Amino acid sequence: MSNTYQRPAPTGDGLRLHLNENTAGCSPRVLEALARLSGTDISFYPDYDAVYREAAAYLGIPESGLLLVNGLDEGILMATIVAMLRRPVDGSTPEFIVVHPAFDMYAITARACGGAVVDVQPRPDFTFPLDRVRSAITARTRLVFITSPNNPTGVRVTNDDILSVAQAARPGAQVLVDEAYHDFCGDTARPLLDSCPNIVVGRTFAKAHGLAALRVGALMSTSDTLEPLRAVTPPFSLNVAAAVALRAALADGERLAWYVDQVKQSRELVYAFSVRHGFEFWPSGANFVLTRVGPQSGPLVGHLARVGIHIRDKSADPGCAGCIRVTTGIVEHTRRCIDAMEEFLCDAR
Ligand SMILES: Cc1ncc(COP(=O)(O)O)c(C=O)c1O
Repeated sequence: MSNTYQRPAPTGDGLRLHLNENTAGCSPRVLEALARLSGTDISFYPDYDAVYREAAAYLGIPESGLLLVNGLDEGILMATIVAMLRRPVDGSTPEFIVVHPAFDMYAITARACGGAVVDVQPRPDFTFPLDRVRSAITARTRLVFITSPNNPTGVRVTNDDILSVAQAARPGAQVLVDEAYHDFCGDTARPLLDSCPNIVVGRTFAKAHGLAALRVGALMSTSDTLEPLRAVTPPFSLNVAAAVALRAALADGERLAWYVDQVKQSRELVYAFSVRHGFEFWPSGANFVLTRVGPQSGPLVGHLARVGIHIRDKSADPGCAGCIRVTTGIVEHTRRCIDAMEEFLCDAR
């Protein structure tokens, strides 16, 4: 894996099913709210009172337990910086536990900040390798990344497992539970926050709420745990357009419910496609499905790109040989993707 983020190649007018974005676009209410921004809304530093009040109410937490960030990537960076600042007393390098296959930014960010990445290899079925994670924790561990549902597998982690890791990580390390895809299954570690102050839950509004380009995410924890994270986060890191857009998106529950329903239907279509072809797949709690199509994964992804449909070959990820990951957004897009995959497989026979 590269030590810097590899920006995806431009896709032009193609169908983007490779970055788990919202394939329907944001709520029209977001566009209306952005159109109402005035010149001084943009020339003044933003006021966050309303967005904090409304986001905290939406997330079901007190405002003191919320830190809004410039995308969850920034939340990962802030958690990493805070972890790096807590150097082990013997001067050794802080360790970051990454459970594979994993979202690339954990290891990229930890390495970029000078941390040591401890890789935990997956189980063949991608269920959470609790024993391996617990055994990887040392006195030097400062941050454990847990993703639920996981990217790229879509597999969910139980709160019992999260709790067990958080207890083992105490008192030296924090656990960042990345819930970027929470809206597509409803699971959350939020109820653990009161009893486990070393847990920080991360969310993004890039996916289900469709605000990826505006950059808005959230960290949730106890007020004390968030204190050092707040201290390292730039005071106006959430720009005014993101703040306004978030309020409008959170107010449009109907749009969210409709999109989540589209995602659920789309997942079923990809499962059915996988079953038809005898491909192994993992039931997903997210807006994508990982399917093992075998050695044809590269040619399949290449063929789709040539006809303007972009999906991901995840073959290089640990445990994912021969796997593709397809974003499951609106049903019409998923059908187009499946039709193109069927065509390729039929021609390949
Ligand atoms: C697991 C996971 N965490 C975090 C992010 C980044 O979220 P954001 O766009 O809010 O920075 C992503 C984006 O794909 C992701 O898959």
